[in-house]
Amino acid sequence: MVSDKVSIHGTWASRWVFILAATGSAVGLGNIWKFPYMTGMYGGGAFVIMYLVCIFMVGLPIMLAETLIGRRGRQSPVNALRTLALESGASPRWSWAALMGMVAALLILSFYSVIAGWSLDYIIAMGDGQFEGISAEGAGAAFGTLTADPWRLTLWHTLFMLLTGVVIARGVVAGLERSLRIMMPLLFVLLLVLLGYSMTTGHFMQGFHFLFDFQPDKLLDGVLAAMGHAFFTLSVGVGSIMVYGAYMPKRASIGSTVLAVGILDTLVALTAGLALFPIVFAAGMEPGAGPGLMFVTLPVAFGNIAFGQVMGTLFFILVLVAAWTSSISMLEPAVAYLVERTRRSRVQVTSVLALLCWVVGMGTVLSFNVGAEAKFFVFTADGFQLFQWGAEGGRNFFDSIDYLTSRILLPLGGLAFVLFAGWVLKREAVREELAINNPLLFGLLYWLIRVVAPLGILIVFVAELMK
Ligand code: PFF
Repeated sequence: MVSDKVSIHGTWASRWVFILAATGSAVGLGNIWKFPYMTGMYGGGAFVIMYLVCIFMVGLPIMLAETLIGRRGRQSPVNALRTLALESGASPRWSWAALMGMVAALLILSFYSVIAGWSLDYIIAMGDGQFEGISAEGAGAAFGTLTADPWRLTLWHTLFMLLTGVVIARGVVAGLERSLRIMMPLLFVLLLVLLGYSMTTGHFMQGFHFLFDFQPDKLLDGVLAAMGHAFFTLSVGVGSIMVYGAYMPKRASIGSTVLAVGILDTLVALTAGLALFPIVFAAGMEPGAGPGLMFVTLPVAFGNIAFGQVMGTLFFILVLVAAWTSSISMLEPAVAYLVERTRRSRVQVTSVLALLCWVVGMGTVLSFNVGAEAKFFVFTADGFQLFQWGAEGGRNFFDSIDYLTSRILLPLGGLAFVLFAGWVLKREAVREELAINNPLLFGLLYWLIRVVAPLGILIVFVAELMK
């Protein structure tokens, strides 16, 4: 029998709303901001190939596992895992994986809010015409001025966290659906416009080759980064998709739904890369510029095309919306859990969690300016140090949280979720939830969940350790 539990938090009207919500979660800064800059840092085509392999062999099976666990459990990820584990005669400690995921999602939100805040600043600067006719140096300088100012960053970080909190406090089902229906297609259209512009730069093919040329020698350089990013971009490994799965109607087909979300997410990332890199090359900029890449290239593009001011403003509004629909999904697992556990109102729980994330986010704000020299995870000649001011190597606060979540916590969470769906839940339970009649197709998906995805994650980890 398909599980007949009911979620106390509500249920989506149809599977389309799940697609909208899950795509809203998946498509975000990861696609438009992070994917291009990581591709730049890890050398282009080799990274893209590893990323695609990780998405399809590992990311999608995890998404499948999370959705079916969520829908069968119909509670917050922590309680869903606990209930289903007990029902299957396994240890309730499986819920610790979801607890870890929940913390990872809150950590991600802490820095995500700071970066999303940059787009608020850019909406105003763009609308104000400050980027009219700007050069690459000018755009770089404008970005530098923004990140050097902790007060300005704090303002936008605070505003974005408030936006996220307000939606979550009201309940996800209400309000968001309508704006998403308009904003998501518009995001695609504007990306295509940008792509059109990049084709006129005369460097389109250079960008294309950078993204898609196969470089076997570099293939292993960014594997762990590609794996981490595959998790980040699909929002898997933390329980966000699981909690959305808990609100999914009973009869909806999970397999095709998850595939749709994965394909949309990948298309947005690739289009963003194809649109941005030709502009980077045309302006003589560095593809390896790091987190500022999008915030420097886009103003150059929009500052130099017809109607650029309007389109650019619109574009940053959409970046904001894409980030917003992702950020709410980071908060939801913890909010659902605390509501279930404490029986306090969503408003109370949301306020406390948002404040917590805001405080941690201040670490990221400072790591771009006065705290840039505060380094964590430092390996020196005398050994390992957790913290050292002004160390040569090491990572600043933002890089540390990003590293800890994407490279370690998300893959571990994802591993636990596929193992749970593949080895703890009964085969029959998985078959009922997936509702796939074709035995061959079911066999393939089940094998991906049970064997391929867990092995993929483990191999990448071991390979990285031995490097
Ligand atoms: N998938 C989002 C992006 O690509 O921007 C980021 C994200 C959302 C990560 C939700 C984790 C999460 F739980």
